[in-house]
Amino acid sequence: MLRSPRTHSPHSQPPHTLISRQLTLISTESYFHRLPNMNSIRLRPAWCRNLAGARCSRHNTPTHCITSSRNSSSSSSAAAVSKAEANYKIIDRAADFEKKQASRPPFDNSNAPILVTKQPNPTWQYGDGVPGRDLTIPHRQIDPYAADRAMVDNYKLLISAIAPRPIGLISTRGKDGSKNLAPFSYFQVVDHDPPTFIVGFSSRPGAEKDTFRNLQETGECVINTVSEDMIEAVNAVAVDAPHGVSEWAISGLHEAPAAVVQASRVKESVFSAEAEVVDVKVLGEGKSGMSKAGVVMLKAVRFWVREDATDEGGRTVDLEKLRPIAQLGGMAYGRVKETFELPRRRWVDEVVKSERLAKMVNVREETKKD
Ligand SMILES: Cc1cc2nc3c(=O)[nH]c(=O)nc-3n(C[C@H](O)[C@H](O)[C@H](O)COP(=O)(O)O)c2cc1C
Repeated sequence: MLRSPRTHSPHSQPPHTLISRQLTLISTESYFHRLPNMNSIRLRPAWCRNLAGARCSRHNTPTHCITSSRNSSSSSSAAAVSKAEANYKIIDRAADFEKKQASRPPFDNSNAPILVTKQPNPTWQYGDGVPGRDLTIPHRQIDPYAADRAMVDNYKLLISAIAPRPIGLISTRGKDGSKNLAPFSYFQVVDHDPPTFIVGFSSRPGAEKDTFRNLQETGECVINTVSEDMIEAVNAVAVDAPHGVSEWAISGLHEAPAAVVQASRVKESVFSAEAEVVDVKVLGEGKSGMSKAGVVMLKAVRFWVREDATDEGGRTVDLEKLRPIAQLGGMAYGRVKETFELPRRRWVDEVVKSERLAKMVNVREETKKD
């Protein structure tokens, strides 16, 4: 299939602006001590401080990381790993993919402006709920841990239910200096003050994911955004290439130096955040032959945004330029072609405009009297 030319090549992209921000210390020790289910994890704060501390104190952005003392691959005997591999059904072989693709229209590469419409229901009133929604359809209850339920069922259910998910393309270095790049959609920004992200690493046969290991070893990374025109390269990055084959070379993505961390930025990304590890939480030590799963919390120490995609103050990223890709269920991805706006509302402004809201206050007052 012929694709229309990209609107920008990596070489002709406008430069990126570097946005620096002073961050405050987060200590997570007390948080961990409060957790009831952490008995299996021996905390080693001193070791972790060494892990991230040298770099963080150099940049005056202290980081305190806590992680498991266990080894990276918990039950990694060769036999257990090969049995785990045989049962590992996360990656869909998609045998009939080419056939399905043949009947589909081509991707619209025209970069047509994103349409801004009115909201779905402009006449919605307080208390209206979801007009027209059939609430007689029952819900099915599912026990994620039922004996006859495979974990892959939970995987398929969750990635199709919790959608769309943004993709963070994460660049790390190993402690031996090796470079790594991989996409993650168990990924989200969770706060802006301090700018904080989380990334989830799933269990897989054998050793834990390189990104997960590198984050624990070096305590830093660059998180890069994924735009529509990057998705094939990003998907290629996730191929299970033999050790030593460069994911940068496989994808053809271009490296750019970061300012604070050792890992490289992805030049094609409209926005990148250099980040340091704040916390590592091991979710499970991995079943037989499987690696441990975990979540890493990261705080940004530097932002980069492409010059043509931001305003003078570096306060926004233009959606027309970002063209973000969302991951959906199965093998599906989504794009943003249409948006609408919905202002946030304040009670004081609303209660005087809405009889229904005013009545709710009166009912509350009446109930108090009774
Ligand atoms: C779009 C996309 C999103 C992904 N999201 C995740 C994720 O959130 N968590 C995860 O463990 N693996 C995820 N993967 C799979 C990893 O990218 C893949 O296992 C990769 O090879 C890990 O690389 P590493 O071992 O170099 O870290 C995703 C793959 C793709 C293509």
